[in-house]
Amino acid sequence: MEDKKKMHGTWASRWTFVLAATGSAVGLGNIWKFPYIAGENGGGAFVVVYLFCILLIGLPIMVAEVMLGRRGRLSPINSMRLITTESGLHGVWNGIGWLGVVAGLIILSYYAVIAGWALYYILEMASGSLHGATAEQASALFSKLQADPQRLIFYQSIFMLMTIAVVAGGVTRGLGVAVRTLMPMLFVLLVIVLVFSYREGEFSRGLEFLFNFNTEALSGEGVLEAMGHAFFTLSLGMGAIMAYGAYMPEHARIGTTVLAVGALDTLVALMAGMAIFPIVFANPVLEPGAGPGLLFISLPVAFGNMPGGLLFGTIFFVLVSVAAWSSAISLIEPAVAYLVESHKLNRLTANLLLGGIAWLTGLGTVFSFNIWADYKLAGFTFFDFLDFLSSSVMLPVSGMLIALVVGWYMKPGVVQEELADETPTVFNCWKTVLKYISLASVAAIFVIGIYKTFG
Ligand code: PHE
Repeated sequence: MEDKKKMHGTWASRWTFVLAATGSAVGLGNIWKFPYIAGENGGGAFVVVYLFCILLIGLPIMVAEVMLGRRGRLSPINSMRLITTESGLHGVWNGIGWLGVVAGLIILSYYAVIAGWALYYILEMASGSLHGATAEQASALFSKLQADPQRLIFYQSIFMLMTIAVVAGGVTRGLGVAVRTLMPMLFVLLVIVLVFSYREGEFSRGLEFLFNFNTEALSGEGVLEAMGHAFFTLSLGMGAIMAYGAYMPEHARIGTTVLAVGALDTLVALMAGMAIFPIVFANPVLEPGAGPGLLFISLPVAFGNMPGGLLFGTIFFVLVSVAAWSSAISLIEPAVAYLVESHKLNRLTANLLLGGIAWLTGLGTVFSFNIWADYKLAGFTFFDFLDFLSSSVMLPVSGMLIALVVGWYMKPGVVQEELADETPTVFNCWKTVLKYISLASVAAIFVIGIYKTFG
């Protein structure tokens, strides 16, 4: 155990793990994706399904993932190797590690493009060009950005370099300080936007939209999307949480730690939705189901018309970028850790290599908004395809495998030993939910969703 621990280091405390995992979990998924997919799926009913997915599928699997990571204390691929050997399992289970690492890189490829939009909006906000902007002007600005591959590639590249720079310097040092200061700031700024939205927006209509039970707009695809998003927003199924779990101190209680991360993540997502929809409804031209542009059209209009809004808007997009940044770091870390362990690469080389691959793949996402907009893969644009493949296929499959291996196949003694600090009731509850409810729901929703999408 000792030398394994030294290879990548250990978080200073359980709290550092909470910050790092929250930094990973809170990202574009909360501030950008959650509000817009909730909007596309009619709001309330989607939110309820989403909350259930977090509680009954996301959190139990997160506990399992942290546990696997801490048991193995290595990159997801090598941790899984160790664990399967320890429990005398077939090598196919190592696929969990591989699936995660590959899904992480796929997500990073498009994550960097979208995060690049946030970087661009920092400058637009700061330049004052959005002062007094109407919804039409904000939409036009966003369309102009999407139609311009060079500009998209420029910001995508900057974001990728930022990510590589931090991870190359080591997660604990670079990340720890950033997360500690910037996460609370993000939270404070969200509160400020929320207050603005409450005072200036159609707050009650926004709330009603977000929390009213409108089952009509919710399709089978929507349910699959809610589940995929529960995985995505908690950073599950792609090794990020497993890798971070590997750096967790030996006697930290996994259960309560995971609860804290899940609660913070959900809170930020709901706050983002509550801030954005009232502003959307205050503008007759804006649509709650506007899709990916929601954050980049609605909020600029709001900030552009609020006293001091350009300043707050600038800071807000800085923080969106930082939230995305701390997530991106966790997307590349598992693969970097693997290359360092198994191929004796140094961190910088590993980062350059993996960042380069993700950057190249990201070009497909860039072009899917302009010159490739008409090329469809199974009915999806390149970006939609990668998004569907990663969050609706790879993550649930990886989640099912994790629930299966931890719930049914690993030696029960090993699982119990790693979770020895939990009370027996908590442990038994968790194990039962994981074995039956998490596993069955993830399987059912996944199969039904695929059938509805293609059937
Ligand atoms: N959880 C992050 C978000 O909500 C995305 C992410 C997924 C980050 C997987 C790391 C790993 O934006």
